[in-house]
Amino acid sequence: MMLQRSWIKFYSPKRRCRLPDAREKLSKLMKREVSTNFPKLYSELAEWFHLLTAPEDYAEEAEFYRNAIFSACDGTPHSLLELGSGGGNNAFHLKAFFQLTLVDLSADMLRISKGLNPECEHIQGDMRQVRLNREFGAVFIHDAIMYMQNKTDLGKAIHTASIHCRPGGVVLLAPDYVLETFRPTTDHGGHDGEDRGIRYLDWTWDPDPHDSTYQSDMVYLIKDKDGNLQVEHDRHVMGIFSSQTWVELLTEAGLQAQVIPFEHSQIEPGTTVVFIGRKLSGRNSK
Ligand SMILES: C[S@@+](CC[C@H](N)C(=O)[O-])C[C@H]1O[C@@H](n2cnc3c(N)ncnc32)[C@H](O)[C@@H]1O
Repeated sequence: MMLQRSWIKFYSPKRRCRLPDAREKLSKLMKREVSTNFPKLYSELAEWFHLLTAPEDYAEEAEFYRNAIFSACDGTPHSLLELGSGGGNNAFHLKAFFQLTLVDLSADMLRISKGLNPECEHIQGDMRQVRLNREFGAVFIHDAIMYMQNKTDLGKAIHTASIHCRPGGVVLLAPDYVLETFRPTTDHGGHDGEDRGIRYLDWTWDPDPHDSTYQSDMVYLIKDKDGNLQVEHDRHVMGIFSSQTWVELLTEAGLQAQVIPFEHSQIEPGTTVVFIGRKLSGRNSK
């Protein structure tokens, strides 16, 4: 589907171990940040995520990402880190092929993903600064990368991906749009559950083509088990960058960059690209 903090300056695993109080404060701060600045879809409305965009609908694209990762890696990657893993919809299909570690900013989204993917490791963290102090065969960032609203944040997220990738492994980034392919669009969808349902209208537009963001205004029509309807508006502010910027940031992070067309039966050919960054040896930095 279409499908957004530098807040905790003291965040460090060592400190977390030594200071349980600080860990608790961090968790509370993250929750507050998520609830005040984040789309409702990833906080108060997270329980609706899988009815808005269903895991089954991700089989074809997950297969594309898996093939792209396998063909770009040296050797077979056994472990995969996903940053901004959301509801775990891609993970649901990828977990048969990799040992998955799923990182997301939102505790609510992690809870939803754990329900779908209980066998996967789930960690709360910000893709711009999380440090797990280990390397993976591949690192994947799907549409969550769109929440990097400026070049500095995009560079931080790519750096995080790079330092968690083993030499010879790959980083795969799958943005919804790059500057060259952005078009204003409207979309709709949603699903019925056993006794409830949701429908959405997504209006994607760019109020200022000269800055590094665009927005997706989503309206959700939410129906409870008694047939009562609730209407919610949710604004997703997302980043938009040229392909050249993506390639520059990948290169700066020690990755050999490649741009490949995204192939999917429901996507018009030539309208979407995926970035592959192959980790060069000896290029890790903390
Ligand atoms: C559209 S959802 C991802 C869905 C995912 N592609 C899937 O397969 O289910 C976007 C996710 O990005 C997460 N996110 C946004 N900014 C983030 C950040 N700075 N670090 C980590 N996760 C972030 C949100 O919490 C949300 O769960």
